[in-house]
Amino acid sequence: MKAIILSGGKGTRLRPLTYTGAKQLVPVANKPILWYGLEAIVAAGISEIGIIISPETGAEVKAKTGDGSQFGAQITYIQQDQPAGLAHAVKIAQPFLQDAPFVMYLGDNLVQGSLSPLVDQFKSNTLDALTLLCEVENPTAFGVAEVDETGRILRLVEKPKVPPSNLALVGVYLFSNAIHEAIAQIQPSPRGELEITDAIQKLIDLERKVEAYKLQGWWLDTGKKDDLLEANRIILDTCLQSRNEGDVDASSQIIGRVEVGQGSKIINSTIRGPVTIGDNCHIENCFVGPYSSISHEVKLIDADIEHSVILKQAQVINIHHRIVDSVIGQRAFLKEAPRRPKALRFMIGDDCQIELSS
Ligand code: TTP
Repeated sequence: MKAIILSGGKGTRLRPLTYTGAKQLVPVANKPILWYGLEAIVAAGISEIGIIISPETGAEVKAKTGDGSQFGAQITYIQQDQPAGLAHAVKIAQPFLQDAPFVMYLGDNLVQGSLSPLVDQFKSNTLDALTLLCEVENPTAFGVAEVDETGRILRLVEKPKVPPSNLALVGVYLFSNAIHEAIAQIQPSPRGELEITDAIQKLIDLERKVEAYKLQGWWLDTGKKDDLLEANRIILDTCLQSRNEGDVDASSQIIGRVEVGQGSKIINSTIRGPVTIGDNCHIENCFVGPYSSISHEVKLIDADIEHSVILKQAQVINIHHRIVDSVIGQRAFLKEAPRRPKALRFMIGDDCQIELSS
């Protein structure tokens, strides 16, 4: 069995972060989102992995993720010139996939638990498609499946006005080589994309065996800011282990599960876990509260931060308000005047969101 991870796309919902970088490389608990899927695929015993990349962000994905040896995999990069849909990504991956059955994993999704039960069900029932389904509160926003009592999928509906169930298709699919024939028979949707739901519906119409696997745990699409913060909260809550490779001075307090990376200095600060702090950070006179991920080379001085993600080389200095529910991009710089400022000075990129509340 092989796998493809989709790491192309536009990432419009995560602008401005995605103007300068791939959304799949945005870190959750200081690890790129993409790597969670990669590790789950390798853990399920699959090592031949194709990563779909876009011309804009492909080089960055490649440079960061490498040839796969650090994950115990062989990675082939496949460039998709246009984000022409999930089924289009499968189409261009066909020379890599050949006739092998494969896992397709959306590179901006996080799924709790192992992929092994899906692989087992796919193999033992000799399926042509297995889709991961998750109960959602707002099925009208998703591709929704109608499933019989044996787990067989009867019908798929994209963003239905009257949903046949609350079971949404989420970021993981398994296919036999029959999917290529199905994709060859579908047309682009009204939004101009070759839709994977249409290809799976085509398999159902062709009376191929299509089943569902219902996810018991959580699933997160990290495409938007609040989803990214939620992913960060869940991963820190469930996976973080205490580790201190930095330098924490005697007047600082570390409470709960906290990870401090190499070369990081914590001076006169309180860190209340779960919190992860990357390498070579400088944190002085700060409170860093639960569910915060501080990336590498970040400088925080006289600041108070909680439930936030601070990306590489950002600086937050002298801010006398608590920063909450925030995502601060790479190399961003926030500084407040020592006394109550008479004027605010900004250099803010396109699509940024700033809320000043008293
Ligand atoms: P989406 O989140 O559906 O699309 P997007 O990345 O264009 O995001 P946005 O809606 O914010 O503009 O894509 C799911 C995953 O699949 C994501 O990791 C990007 C990837 N993808 C491709 O690799 N090729 C494609 O043609 C599309 C549509 C998505």
